Amino acid sequence: MTRHLVSIDDLSLDEIRALFHLADRFAADPRGQRDAARGLIAASLFYEPSTRTRLSFESAMLRLGGGVLTAAEMSSSSAAKGESLADTVRVVGGGYADVIVLRHSSEGAARLAADYSTVPVINAGDGAHEHPTQTLCDLYNLHVERGRIEGLEVVLAGDLKYSRTVHSFAYALARFGANIVCVPQPGFEMPEYVLRRLREEFGVEPLRADTRRLGDLAGETDAMYLTPQKPHQLSLFTDARGWELQRVDALYMTRPQTERFSSGEEASERYMRLERRDMAAESLRDAVVMHPLPRRDEIASDVDEDPRSIYFKQAARGVPIRMALLATLMEQAPGLDSPPVQPESYPVAVGENPCPNPNCISRTEPRHVAPRFVVASRQPVRAHCAYCSRELVFRFVGCSTSRSYHAPEAGALRKVRPDHLVFFEDEGAAGRHEFVPAST
Ligand code: NCD
Repeated sequence: MTRHLVSIDDLSLDEIRALFHLADRFAADPRGQRDAARGLIAASLFYEPSTRTRLSFESAMLRLGGGVLTAAEMSSSSAAKGESLADTVRVVGGGYADVIVLRHSSEGAARLAADYSTVPVINAGDGAHEHPTQTLCDLYNLHVERGRIEGLEVVLAGDLKYSRTVHSFAYALARFGANIVCVPQPGFEMPEYVLRRLREEFGVEPLRADTRRLGDLAGETDAMYLTPQKPHQLSLFTDARGWELQRVDALYMTRPQTERFSSGEEASERYMRLERRDMAAESLRDAVVMHPLPRRDEIASDVDEDPRSIYFKQAARGVPIRMALLATLMEQAPGLDSPPVQPESYPVAVGENPCPNPNCISRTEPRHVAPRFVVASRQPVRAHCAYCSRELVFRFVGCSTSRSYHAPEAGALRKVRPDHLVFFEDEGAAGRHEFVPAST
């Protein structure tokens, strides 16, 4: 069965550890792997700009002895003639290439591509949604620098709203049992849909964080501490002011993702900036400074000289970990234990697309993509988009066979098969589709 990497959750923790071990081997002898993928071809389909991700993938494939097809400017491809992503993927995966590395500006694009591809699809960033291979690189760096991930204290700073690297990293850190301190640029806090997943799927507890020890960097921001620890462990430490940050293992800075800002949204205040004097904070004494790059002004250039700054090493380690991923997904190396358990998704059978995200692939390619949903809870009914993970917005839920509708908390909905659920924004929409209110 073809394995894809769409979300970092597609890999189990053991599989990620196996990738680290393979990457260690490749890092020790990067020029000695020319037989690992001989005769195989990777296609880079990049609908958005990239330097590191594309070049490190292509370097990884070449170091494995394979070849690369590069479509770095998909705007000059048939996409400009109106070809759907699904069709492009079917063509490229149908004989041109053995693996597809896809970067796209729409959230959920990689999930859609995976649905149509017979060769592995690797998500190299889909809008503001996820960037799982940057996360593999970030986790690999923690593994090399710290020897473990469990129990680390990791600060995520900057634009936490639109940074897809931060979203994928947070899911993985939570699964590995690391603690996350969110230090957002005001107005660019971690999105609710990410927090919900962290809470519901990974058992993360959000607490207020007291970040005085981070000094100026944390400034006036409303910091949050996200921990997968059990409540009884937390009760030993917390007080009314929230979790006091003592020492940090890694500080992960991100740039403002201005290309994703909606109109009227600007980092109006000065964007946060890590300067040499901030590195004197006691809490940062043993911290490594990370950044997925590119950086703008959020890390002053004199911080580069600090031995705790690892962002250039971090980028270099992107090659061996991507070599490990490519070799594993193309079945040139062992390491995948079992297929990941994908949540069941269902087509939206009646009514409008209930995904509220204008940048979801189901909305940016409406003629080609049939909206699908995943049921998150049956009581009350809650669901999210199968492509971009955004929570669906609706006031009423119908049953497509009885053609009656209910409030989402109605007990009767428990008996409705998930593929028969229909979502309506209001009673008018239900009426237009000839659904009637359920008799209570
Ligand atoms: C990141 C991305 O594209 O999301 N870059 C990368 O892949 N290293 C981060 C960014 O662009 O800010």
